[in-house]
Amino acid sequence: MSEIVGIFVAWPYANGDLHLGHVAGAYLPPDIFARYHRLRGHRVLMVSGSDSHGTPITVKAAELGVSPREVFEHYHRRFLDNWQKLGISFDLFTHTDTENHHAVAQELFRTLYEKGYIYTSTMTQLYCEHDARFLPDRYVEGTCPHCGYPNARGDQCDNCGRTLDAVELQDPRCKLCGRRPVPRESVHFFFDLPAFEDRLLAYIDRQRHWRPNVQNFVRNYLVDGLKPRPVSRDLDWGIPLPVEGYKGKVMYVWFEAVIGYLSASVEWAHNRGTPDAWKTWWYDPGARSYYFIGKDNIPFHAIIWPAELMGYDEGLSLPYDIPANEFLNLEGEKFSTSRNWAIWLPEYLERYAPDPLRYYLTVIAPETRDSDFTWQGFVERNNNELVATWGNLVHRVISFAYRRWKGRVPAPGPLGERDHELWRRVEEGFERIGALYERTHFKAALRETMGLAREVNRYLDEKAPWFQIKEDKEAAATTIFVALRAIDSLNVLLAPVLPFSSERVRRALGHKGPLFGEVTVEEYHERERSHVALVYHPLAEEGHVDRWKPSTLEPGRPLAKPEVLFQKLDEQVIEEERRRLVEKSRAE
Ligand code: MF3
Ligand code: ZN
Repeated sequence: MSEIVGIFVAWPYANGDLHLGHVAGAYLPPDIFARYHRLRGHRVLMVSGSDSHGTPITVKAAELGVSPREVFEHYHRRFLDNWQKLGISFDLFTHTDTENHHAVAQELFRTLYEKGYIYTSTMTQLYCEHDARFLPDRYVEGTCPHCGYPNARGDQCDNCGRTLDAVELQDPRCKLCGRRPVPRESVHFFFDLPAFEDRLLAYIDRQRHWRPNVQNFVRNYLVDGLKPRPVSRDLDWGIPLPVEGYKGKVMYVWFEAVIGYLSASVEWAHNRGTPDAWKTWWYDPGARSYYFIGKDNIPFHAIIWPAELMGYDEGLSLPYDIPANEFLNLEGEKFSTSRNWAIWLPEYLERYAPDPLRYYLTVIAPETRDSDFTWQGFVERNNNELVATWGNLVHRVISFAYRRWKGRVPAPGPLGERDHELWRRVEEGFERIGALYERTHFKAALRETMGLAREVNRYLDEKAPWFQIKEDKEAAATTIFVALRAIDSLNVLLAPVLPFSSERVRRALGHKGPLFGEVTVEEYHERERSHVALVYHPLAEEGHVDRWKPSTLEPGRPLAKPEVLFQKLDEQVIEEERRRLVEKSRAE
């Protein structure tokens, strides 16, 4: 049965590069999930894009003395390049400044306004008399009323993580001129969240399958009671309000960015010439939508976005799951942009291969609690697991078969009890490990798969085909045949996490055609020129083939000469990279 799976990924602010904390939190997990479902032949739609509006972008533009558009286009291009290098296989990675997104966001806003879910009211805001303007969100800094941190921003305190209203700040300062702003009344648009209280409670109550951390977060949030949220801002960069008479005001970035999930689905359908295709993921009662985000984004996805959808069109599907992650730390400390305590994704990709990072970030995935990236951990896992357990297994078996059976899969003799036992273990793995991927337990899925790789290694050590061959070539052929099939199977089980090396293993095993489809480089650059990338072309379009199955590798199949899969890393890398981190943060 082919399932319908919507994979919706947090829209990164295009005002800076992403670091490995972002990757572990919100970008790698959805890709693993998408690849798993594509292997099953399910109908996957995975979309996201650059969040190009809001004060994060305009403040950065002011700092650099360039336009907001220049800022977001610059980082958007870098995101696209990074996704391709890391293998994050979006069906579409667009941005929020497209005509399409403006239109969809305005239509949704207008509908909520006409239904009375959005209304105008006055509110007190900070106004800078020197600059003659209101100061939304990040245009003000001051002392956090909760923790006393002196450099809290108008929308959030970076120290204690609480979201703030700029008027709560003590000793507020205008970010543009440094002077003290004054409170002043202004008319704004409010989203009537309390009107959705009952429906939201009923909805949340049905989500017993959510991760406990997400459920707890949402319940605590609801205990405080829902308040109307201002959804307009005094800015000239953003989506204009679709109501006459409010020049100089735009939609609040969070209110419109989440609408991107819907608008990007529409854009994807339009781009491929089937303008109605998006409806499958949004109206089919069997469709399931998953939202991959970091934990700081939970309220917007678990409460505000569902309320927007309920108010706009009751028929649209609400988030089925929101597998938000906890945080990743770096060498025992929080990632910090301001202190430059970070490994930036472009920087990583310049020096190392993508699969080892995908592997390590999955092993330490902060699925239920914060976890820690260390260079020592990275090097050890790479060398002891990726290289020693998996890479060497693949290499020694395929090259032995290649050398001793004229480059072909050997024909086995009768299988013994031990051979059957290994085969059963591998076969069972598909259901067990598939269920873990399905429930977004990627860390456990990978742990189980590597456990199977260890079992195959044990089997080979017991059988020792390199000695068997001297006395009984058929017995050696049986062992190698069983091992090759096990490797072929494990390669599929690992493919969601290791997409690059799994294609290489697949070629070495003589398969024709890739596991995953991809766009051609030309097609990619074509899209990139229009700043909108289709990073991936699903094979699923060719019909629903379920590849999540034990190997059927047949005797006599030609093998390819195996290449080295993974590079062992020198221990020196640990010290070198640590030094680099410290130096970078000192330079700040
Ligand atoms: N731009 C926000 C961030 O980087 C995330 C937005 S997710 C969205 O934290 F769904 F609202 F777009
Ligand atoms: Zn604070």
